[in-house]
Amino acid sequence: MNKKRWGLLLRSTPSALRWLGKIAAEEKTALYLVGGAIRDMVLGKRTRDLDLACEGSVKKVASRLSKELSTPFTHYQQFMTATLEGPEESRIDIAETRRETYPAPGALPEVEKASIMEDLYRRDFTVNAMALSLNPRDFGEIIDPTEGMVDLRKRLIRVLHEKSFSDDPTRVFRAVRYAERLGFRIESRTLVQLKGTVEMIHRLSPERLFYELQCISREAGDARVRIIKKLRRLNALSFLGEALKPLSAARLGRIPDDQACEFLCLFLSHFTDEYASRLPVKKACLETTNTLRKVNPVLAKLAGLSSPSSITRFLSTHDKRGLRIISQTSDSKGCRKIKDYLEIYSKVRIKTTGDDLKKMGISPGPRYRRILDDLLDAKLNGVLETKRQETEFVKKKEN
Ligand code: CTP
Repeated sequence: MNKKRWGLLLRSTPSALRWLGKIAAEEKTALYLVGGAIRDMVLGKRTRDLDLACEGSVKKVASRLSKELSTPFTHYQQFMTATLEGPEESRIDIAETRRETYPAPGALPEVEKASIMEDLYRRDFTVNAMALSLNPRDFGEIIDPTEGMVDLRKRLIRVLHEKSFSDDPTRVFRAVRYAERLGFRIESRTLVQLKGTVEMIHRLSPERLFYELQCISREAGDARVRIIKKLRRLNALSFLGEALKPLSAARLGRIPDDQACEFLCLFLSHFTDEYASRLPVKKACLETTNTLRKVNPVLAKLAGLSSPSSITRFLSTHDKRGLRIISQTSDSKGCRKIKDYLEIYSKVRIKTTGDDLKKMGISPGPRYRRILDDLLDAKLNGVLETKRQETEFVKKKEN
């Protein structure tokens, strides 16, 4: 892969963007930088992914760029989009310019080809509805039909039309997310419309809702806690009933910044079983969530355990990431025991193997497991250190 060029593209340097436009023009396609990339460029923030819109064939442009950059691409014919994948999960998304109509509130839109202008009018907020022309004839020209630049300067999140939230209730999450991430205010009429839509959120498919929760989890630590607080204040999470009540913002705030998955698991662990089971949660995340749901019984049981071996036997049946989250977010005395388990006990290994037991003349069978478990217990409790001591321990027990 051409890493240097990819890096320049993600940093949106003028020469890299000019190159993009030239390549697209050779494919008889007009190309625009759209969405968050322009917003972030103006705000002087680093953009995460590059979003491009093309008036022409997305497949042609993507396959040409894929060759030029020596990186794979995926074409989603049904959605008229393509994605080029780069290092460290970075990506360039390209979409054919389109008009969208919503058959029902919360449903996915029906899509038809349209001009860049119409494409901008179908978007969520004015600050996300600008395009930068990459075309050689008018390179660098900003297309801003809804005064996104003015709102960027005023630091406002504003919808383009009054049906925006009801067409797509995920925009409730998006509005709060941008406002809290960027330190923007939700414009007053937009806020009224947002509040009028919160009861439609339950209509979103579990997949779309889960995607929004993942996006929130990936925000910086303090922003994502503020987002949850604000969503709660706006009743945007009331479709979950009372389930979230015991979850404090302080507890969420203790998850370190770079732990998006941990944040999501802690959040999900407060959902009702019925609701959580509808979300497309990965197996590993589900195991963490299950351990987090048992935080109270786990801590209660730990209170009665004191030897390293009993603590280890009990905690080894639980998910380690879940335990780490409990130790990070709870003030219970048991957290010390969890930390000891994670940092010390779980790393203790015995030196004796099944082969060693055979050599000692013990015939193989289920008792091997019991002997090795006893050895580990003794080692955890500080009774044994060397392999020789282990051998003597076995001989004594088995004679
Ligand atoms: N968009 C929209 N409505 C949505 C989702 C996306 O109008 N429900 C449009 C917006 O113009 C947005 C663009 O698609 O800017 C790209 O979407 P996305 O990548 O989700 O957002 P970004 O603006 O790139 O923001 P982020 O920095 O969070 O990636």
